Amino acid sequence: MAIRVVILAAGRGKRMHSTLPKPLHILAGKTLLEHVLLKTAQLPCASPPIVVINQKKNSFAAALTNHNVVFVEQKEPLGTADAVKQTLSMINADEQILILSADVPLVSIETLRKLIEITPPNQIGMITAFLSNPHGYGRIIRNENGRIIKIVEEKDLTADERKIKEINAGIYLIPGKFLLHGIPLLQKQNNQGEYYLTDIIGLAIKENIPVHSLQPAENDEILGINNRIQLASLERFYQRRYAEKLMEAGVTLLDPNRFDVRGDANIGSDVIIDVNVILEGQVIIGSGCSIGPNTILRNVTLGENVEIRANTIIEDAVIDSDCIIGPFARIRPSTRIDSHVHIGNFVEIKNSRIGKESKINHLSYIGDAEIGKRVNIGAGTITCNYDGAYKHKTWIGDDVQIGSDTQLIAPIKVGDGATIGAGSTIIKDVPPGELTLTHRLSQRIVQNWSRPEKTTVKK
Ligand code: UD1
Ligand code: MG
Repeated sequence: MAIRVVILAAGRGKRMHSTLPKPLHILAGKTLLEHVLLKTAQLPCASPPIVVINQKKNSFAAALTNHNVVFVEQKEPLGTADAVKQTLSMINADEQILILSADVPLVSIETLRKLIEITPPNQIGMITAFLSNPHGYGRIIRNENGRIIKIVEEKDLTADERKIKEINAGIYLIPGKFLLHGIPLLQKQNNQGEYYLTDIIGLAIKENIPVHSLQPAENDEILGINNRIQLASLERFYQRRYAEKLMEAGVTLLDPNRFDVRGDANIGSDVIIDVNVILEGQVIIGSGCSIGPNTILRNVTLGENVEIRANTIIEDAVIDSDCIIGPFARIRPSTRIDSHVHIGNFVEIKNSRIGKESKINHLSYIGDAEIGKRVNIGAGTITCNYDGAYKHKTWIGDDVQIGSDTQLIAPIKVGDGATIGAGSTIIKDVPPGELTLTHRLSQRIVQNWSRPEKTTVKK
């Protein structure tokens, strides 16, 4: 049977105390809803997923520009069954409907595939788990033969039912035909006055539709997020699992508890990552690299054997093999650094290309520049790229030596092999091979000068 995905994302999210819809809160750099969509995208579905949202459609649309989904609005959050009701005009009787919640973001693709596998056509499958602390979840009520008979929500539990540890994960595979018939029959006679989707299970049992259940490999993957404490705890679970996968693949993490990936990291072998490193977006790290502590890499590609020293921030940049970057370097977007380059402390580089074996070791700003091979940029050099209205480019040829504290007023070209004397303000193109420097102040000695001293006041 064809599978159609429905994701419930229209709840009030009251327990988050936020103006942002709960499904748009961020876990590991992605919205909760996106985590679910990335999983369901791997399932063989012919039609795009239906996402039930509240009235903040613009926020949802803006957050999901990369996903092909059909939005359905639930005007008022009258409960999970009412949310499914909004989709009934779009689902077919001969489809199996996979219903997920946007607030259960880490369910694995393996678990979803297994649920589909164990659920025969025209029957129901659902995911349950045994939790040591089941508080807050709907509980699974089974009969003496161990068969599921219904789900009872936390707020409707009897004292005996409260002891049940088996919970409802809120993920179901239900025949379209039965949803079309059953959802309109559900009532809101419960302690929350809501239409509960969970009541569909009791109805199915009454109508002799078998209900199958499946437990996930790890309980954490089906934990729901209703408040910010649960959000933080699932973030930690996600990060631990990601770190373990990397370590299994040959990456050394000096402390997996102080390492976060907010995107996708592709890391070669024998890479050493020190503490407090954050990888964001798409990060590729070649083998043999070392990443110093307190470093952020956002959309970065590193070649092999690159050494990133402590407290370095790199964004939207490509750095070739055998470079040394930092400590305290800041590499900004659209920067390309060729191999064997050294970038030292308090150096900022933006939208520039740095040629092979060049060195910019101290306190410099390089913006909108193209720098050749084997160039040495002295401490405190600045490309003055902005005239207050426009950005201008600086070209520096190969084998150039730039003295400390030089300002290069762009647009400007420095020829191959040129040398610029320290403290120069360069306003015209510099010829190749020559020494160029600007006028210097004469130096004088003041005879018999004495330093001021503090006068000590006697009490
Ligand atoms: C729900 C289940 C509970 C289960 C738990 C698993 C019900 C009645 N209860 O409880 O059995 O153990 O999930 O995490 O289904 N939503 C809407 N419209 C609404 C209400 C909710 O779209 O009117 C969406 C929410 O955005 C959320 C999902 O449905 O993504 C679940 O709603 P939530 O309020 O979080 O239900 P729980 O109390 O967690
Ligand atoms: Mg929930």
